[in-house]
Amino acid sequence: MSKVSERAEELRSQIQRYRMAYYQNNESLIPDHEYDALEKELKALEQNHPELIDSQSPSQIVGGKAAEVFSPVEHLEPMLSLDNAFSKEDFLAWAKRVGEGPFLCEPKIDGLALCLTYEQGVLTRAATRGDGAVGEDVTQNALTIKGIPHRLTGTHHPEVIEIRGEVFFGLKDFARLNASLVQAGKPVFANPRNSASGSLRQKDPSVSAARPLRMLVHGFGAWQGNLKSQSEVYELLASWGLPTTKRYEVVKDAEAAFEFITNLESSRHDVEHEIDGAVIKIDSLQNQSELGKTSRAPRWAIAYKYPPEQVNTKLLDIRVSIGRTGRATPFAVLAPVLVAGSEVEFATLHNQDQVKAKGILIGDTVSIRKAGDVIPEILGPVLALRDGSETAFEMPLNCPECGQKLARASSADVDLRCPNSKSCPAQLRERIAYIGSRAALDIEALGYVSAAALTQPLEPKIPPVISEADLFDLKLEDLLPIRSMVLDPDTGLAKHDALGNPKIVDFFARKDGSAGEVAIKLLANLEEAKTRALWRILVSLSIRHVGPVAARALTEHFGSLSAIFAASEFELSEVAGVGPTLAQSISEWFLIDWHKEILERWEKAGVQLAIPGHLGPGSASKNGIFAGLSIVVTGSLETMTREEAEAVIIELGGKAASSVSKKTAFLVAGPGAGSKLIKAQELGVAVISEQEFLQRTAGNSN
Ligand code: IVH
Repeated sequence: MSKVSERAEELRSQIQRYRMAYYQNNESLIPDHEYDALEKELKALEQNHPELIDSQSPSQIVGGKAAEVFSPVEHLEPMLSLDNAFSKEDFLAWAKRVGEGPFLCEPKIDGLALCLTYEQGVLTRAATRGDGAVGEDVTQNALTIKGIPHRLTGTHHPEVIEIRGEVFFGLKDFARLNASLVQAGKPVFANPRNSASGSLRQKDPSVSAARPLRMLVHGFGAWQGNLKSQSEVYELLASWGLPTTKRYEVVKDAEAAFEFITNLESSRHDVEHEIDGAVIKIDSLQNQSELGKTSRAPRWAIAYKYPPEQVNTKLLDIRVSIGRTGRATPFAVLAPVLVAGSEVEFATLHNQDQVKAKGILIGDTVSIRKAGDVIPEILGPVLALRDGSETAFEMPLNCPECGQKLARASSADVDLRCPNSKSCPAQLRERIAYIGSRAALDIEALGYVSAAALTQPLEPKIPPVISEADLFDLKLEDLLPIRSMVLDPDTGLAKHDALGNPKIVDFFARKDGSAGEVAIKLLANLEEAKTRALWRILVSLSIRHVGPVAARALTEHFGSLSAIFAASEFELSEVAGVGPTLAQSISEWFLIDWHKEILERWEKAGVQLAIPGHLGPGSASKNGIFAGLSIVVTGSLETMTREEAEAVIIELGGKAASSVSKKTAFLVAGPGAGSKLIKAQELGVAVISEQEFLQRTAGNSN
């Protein structure tokens, strides 16, 4: 070997080691600049000696930079799905079809399928399942997953082998991740599966690296091997350093396999990750290949799916929470129980009719379900357990927080509302929290806890925020003395620590009385928020029915809040996307003096209440790139909701239509598009992807 190639090899192995330590253990073994120098030297060497470049060089497989999009990867063997069994009967019928055991039984991991390609023992590619034939190249992210070997250990590695497995979050890691997202004021993941796919498909590998993803492998794709059984395969994969499950068992017949299934179900919470069933495979590889596969799934394996998680608990009480527009929503207070790995204490009941429809009484034992997602649902009472002491829920007559009489806003309204919108502590707290939310001004340091602290602190006696008019006048000295209880965002009830004492925050000041990080951040965030897009300011006013779509249409048309509030109901309702109900709601809102005061004080504080350069009502939309075009959005989009896409269309002068006709300029179609797509194709209307839509609108909208 030449000196140069020796040096290249040395550099590669050093870089690999440092990267592993950095990505997998968050450990910097050498200072950054020294590491950079090594990479630079390797690059230069490879440039001057192209014959030395190989696809396994760290210079080739892990760029520090994020890929713009994941490139498509064609799997050598398609990645199939599994057929399901939901009952013993189903399962035994399958077992009968496939003949005899032995069977290999293992947990079904609720994660995300990943295909690893090793060439001569070196990881050259990691790809998601995609549509089974073509997946996405997520190599850079997969390289950051602890436990995926970059090089196989042992010997006799095949020329090429595809290894399939599941990427997932451990339950504890998932809980920790969500807790940190809550702390950062970011939305949490609904379940470990989502968090795994969200983390694996990050464009920036350093984000994946910071997430403790794990993988277990459960089979192979393309491979010319000569082993006899699935269990031997697992032993071999383990001997190569690949992460295999320790929870598999080989059993002799279908009865024994079913025993495995029931045992695993009763201990599913002892497994460190979420499982949604058991997978039973024919152990003999010869039998596997004889049985073959359909286009969807192998015939030699089956997934036994467990029923969604359901438990019983006591319904202690039904209370009512008040939302930002005063709506009174009943919710259940439950004896805390563990469902699908997390403790459930409350469940929304949506409205009075729901309580009736479910037939539940206070004091009932109720069954609740929490299937896959985080929102627990009360299914109904366990009638056999009633003892006569249960009582019916009556909607309270008065607001639980301010005592005012609840009433319907109009006779057509099904919901009861608290009419005290100005000073009901619940409504104010909810509105302030909403101002901070991503839907409105997106103020990171103004989450629910901050909103409660600003509007109803234990100290000082007079809250610094008595109306949203006060928000942009906040000063450091207003924040420092605040001590407040931590309230639960779903119920408005105080949270307690393990000893049952209410949790208190005094996070605006440090122990020595100086300004804490949150206080400084909140003031800086508020300053930035003053120049947010005008539609966001309008949304943040919590005017009933005014969501992002209407707000964008209105601000784009009128150009300023003063023009919107000066417009007649008729003029408002003429704007595309704004109907009479909404127009009336806006006009009524502005008639109220303390609402006007909000706008005056915000303006004085420097909040921008007009779109700079807008030429007045009706002017901008005619100039938008979609001016005069009728555009339809269908299917599910990846980077935005359909409503958001429609808002962009309106903002850029187009009309967001709901059905396809000859007049439709084009259809934006995402996955799941159905009849509208067919109609567009029939009529010869152009169809574009979300990607193309984004390209066309880039830089033209905020
Ligand atoms: S074996 C040809 N074993 O579940 C497919 N799959 O719902 C053979 N999965 O596509 C798959 N745990 O992504 C197998 N222990 C396990 C599994 C497992 C989870 C996934 C896999 C599969 C999907 C079907």
